Amino acid sequence: RSRRRRLGEAVMATVLILLGGPGAGKGTQAMRLSEARSLPHVSTGDLFRAHLGRGTRFGLKAKAYMDAGKLVPDEIVLDMLVERVAAPDCRAGYVLDGFPRTLAQAQALDRRLAADDDLRVFNLDTSDETIVARIAGRRQCRDCGRLYHVEFSPPRAEGVCDDCRGELFQREDDGPEVVQERLRVYHEQTAPLIRFYADKGVLVNLDGEQAPDRVYAQLDAALARVPE
Ligand code: AP5
Ligand code: MG
Ligand code: ZN
Repeated sequence: RSRRRRLGEAVMATVLILLGGPGAGKGTQAMRLSEARSLPHVSTGDLFRAHLGRGTRFGLKAKAYMDAGKLVPDEIVLDMLVERVAAPDCRAGYVLDGFPRTLAQAQALDRRLAADDDLRVFNLDTSDETIVARIAGRRQCRDCGRLYHVEFSPPRAEGVCDDCRGELFQREDDGPEVVQERLRVYHEQTAPLIRFYADKGVLVNLDGEQAPDRVYAQLDAALARVPE
């Protein structure tokens, strides 16, 4: 399987997908996974926010959709995603968080993957009530992106990142009305991907209601099992 191929041909990549509703814990798990496996963490939401911060065309196009809790149109997402995963650091693979979110995105990803790439999809099965509570208390570091929760994983000092002393902020799309819309959009457009990946035999369902360490332990154990 790991036989070296001719120069210029891609080698097998490990592509891991975190699937789940808004606030289900995709970012929390993806960051751990990325560090443990030395694969870049590719979050389309974080990428849009970074583009927006730099005032690029991707950020400006995405802003109105994000603020309203709607999905950014597939063409824009795909352009940005393709640009990111074409970078040299993604050659051995990457951890996707918040992508794909529509059937069209999943099919576009499929077309990009080589037949022997190792694709695994982890679904964080989490109730809407839990999601609402997680999003309401979320804080994120402006500098390093680390995630906190005022109740479930508070920083040592209020408003300050443990790791880098950066300022913690609340996302603009985390207000209660926008969260309801994000949930609606998730159930309508993204939840069908669970079936899509189950049919391919690459889906691992995880109980997202558990504490972050428990979720990660199950994810890690599932990843260690070689698929048939
Ligand atoms: P995005 O940034 O991806 O937002 P999201 O999908 O709504 O997910 P979140 O980032 O809100 O949550 P998460 O699952 O990462 O949870 P987290 O780990 O932070 O997308 C934002 C917007 O960008 C979209 O609405 C859309 O407009 C646009 N967009 C992005 N990608 C797109 C795409 N592919 N196509 C089209 N549009 C796109 O955890 C949440 C909180 O809970 C944190 O406080 C954390 O500390 C806490 N927590 C996490 N796990 C646990 C646990 N197990 N127990 C207790 N607390 C926990
Ligand atoms: Mg996230
Ligand atoms: Zn930080």
